[in-house]
Amino acid sequence: MSASPDLPDVVERAFQVSRRAGYVSFCRNETGRLLAMLAATRDGTMAEFGTGCGVGTAWLRSGVRGEKARIVTAELDPKLAKAAGEIFAEDDQVEVLAADWSTLLDRGPYSLLFLDSGQPGQVSVDAVADLVEDGGIVVLDDFTPCEVWPPITYGRVDTLREEWLTDPRFTAVEVMVASDASTIIATKR
Ligand SMILES: C[S@@+](CC[C@H](N)C(=O)[O-])C[C@H]1O[C@@H](n2cnc3c(N)ncnc32)[C@H](O)[C@@H]1O
Repeated sequence: MSASPDLPDVVERAFQVSRRAGYVSFCRNETGRLLAMLAATRDGTMAEFGTGCGVGTAWLRSGVRGEKARIVTAELDPKLAKAAGEIFAEDDQVEVLAADWSTLLDRGPYSLLFLDSGQPGQVSVDAVADLVEDGGIVVLDDFTPCEVWPPITYGRVDTLREEWLTDPRFTAVEVMVASDASTIIATKR
């Protein structure tokens, strides 16, 4: 079995900042690699709702091609936002805001939107559909793979997942990033 690929430098730096802050709620590497790959297909402005300590942002940044694309990310907790800001202090393609994600409503449309605030009620299709440009991509993380339809989580229909997978404004797919984790990727039609 071969070793997994090295982490990009910017992701290593984000992990160091997370460790110093004692913060563990970051996206897993499998999702990070997916974010990097998607970011490599994007121009324009990408946005993240819920920065945490900047690990997901760092994965997005690692995939960015060229100097035109930008990433803006909002974190409600000012201490976390400050810590994440350190990672990108010298990087004028990344902006970390200590703010509610709703601050980003005025800055779209986005070419990629990573919805990771951990607040499922805030990330309905209706709440964000107009923020995404045509052909833009939305990523939602932290689902448990489920083989039945409609999807069930903790004994209940997972209405958020159902909504994202069926809304006619998007073409969406649930992708397993590990045997116990899946992600929804949705492209605006
Ligand atoms: C799962 S963590 C984010 C992990 C990060 N995206 C990553 O991949 O490393 C969720 C973060 O969202 C933040 N958050 C929760 N509600 C928020 C809101 N309304 N606006 C901005 N950030 C929020 C939390 O403080 C928490 O740090």
